[in-house]
Amino acid sequence: MPTHFLATSDLTHVDLNQLIESAIRFKQGNDQSKPLAGRSIALVFFNPSLRTRASMQVGIYELGGNAVVLEPGGTSWTLEHREGVVMDADKTEHIAEFVRVLGRYCAAIGVRTFAALQNWEEERTDPILNAFAKYSDVPIINLESAMHHPCQAMADMMTIREKLGEGRKKVLLTWAWHPKPLPMAVPNSFALASAQMGHDLVIAHPPGYELDDELIQTIRQQAAAAGSSVSVVNEIDQAFDGVEVVYAKSWGSRKFYGAPEQDVATRAVYRDKWIVDEQKMARTNSAIFMHCLPVRRNVIVTDAVIDSASSVVIDEAENRLHIQKAIMARLLRA
Ligand code: CP
Repeated sequence: MPTHFLATSDLTHVDLNQLIESAIRFKQGNDQSKPLAGRSIALVFFNPSLRTRASMQVGIYELGGNAVVLEPGGTSWTLEHREGVVMDADKTEHIAEFVRVLGRYCAAIGVRTFAALQNWEEERTDPILNAFAKYSDVPIINLESAMHHPCQAMADMMTIREKLGEGRKKVLLTWAWHPKPLPMAVPNSFALASAQMGHDLVIAHPPGYELDDELIQTIRQQAAAAGSSVSVVNEIDQAFDGVEVVYAKSWGSRKFYGAPEQDVATRAVYRDKWIVDEQKMARTNSAIFMHCLPVRRNVIVTDAVIDSASSVVIDEAENRLHIQKAIMARLLRA
């Protein structure tokens, strides 16, 4: 297990399975340990959150620790992450000081920093998350960055195992229409973790909504190492045929970073077609329906599907708590 928890690709298949098994012990009440007793964890939120924030705060409490929640530009100073800049504009403090000061108080730092959807080539390198990791002497936990949401992906893998048992499953990650472009972190991490876990993965999206080329290469390498398959299709209905897991998520086109109005205009033709509905779910092998939440009802998924017995979205959200306790315990157990 590496020092930081930034992306699941930093972990082995064995590490991922050990985290899921630890999370199941926490969930079943078979691990009552308090590895954070007497220690504090900082949670730095550049963006809004319900599940991540609440589950981290509760998880830290249940592990015996104390959460320090900070919102740069709100409850703490605005932050600069670039090197060598003359800070004469709107940023008050540099991450170089922010992170090292927090490290004197806290045993780990969680950080949420979404893509701004302005500059693809820059944002695909996760500059803010990496600045935190560069300057920190304590573990950094990625609570969703421009490119990865590994806590969500691990909760997703735990949920698939919990609902369908161990072993290879046929998993669909489908793009869905949404009125505005969204970051790619969730689909990136879901696809990556699915491949690492050895699931057969179908990624469905309209033309122009490809995931990062280098990431897709890594996903294909991970799947090959695990003996599973990856296919990418531009059609939605057939993609549902025979799958056991349907994971819906919308994301923005990397072509339109910095030009959201062009993305909105381009995606308009996909409204009504790229939605998870009962007709598509009927093509599956009794699939479970998954989404990271928050979700726009009757936009991404119909009420009939999200309210059906196939929907596991609330259990999936609950598993954020258990898997994050496992991650923190693994990083910080003395
Ligand atoms: N799924 C997820 O990360 O939810 P929040 O944005 O509410 O934290």
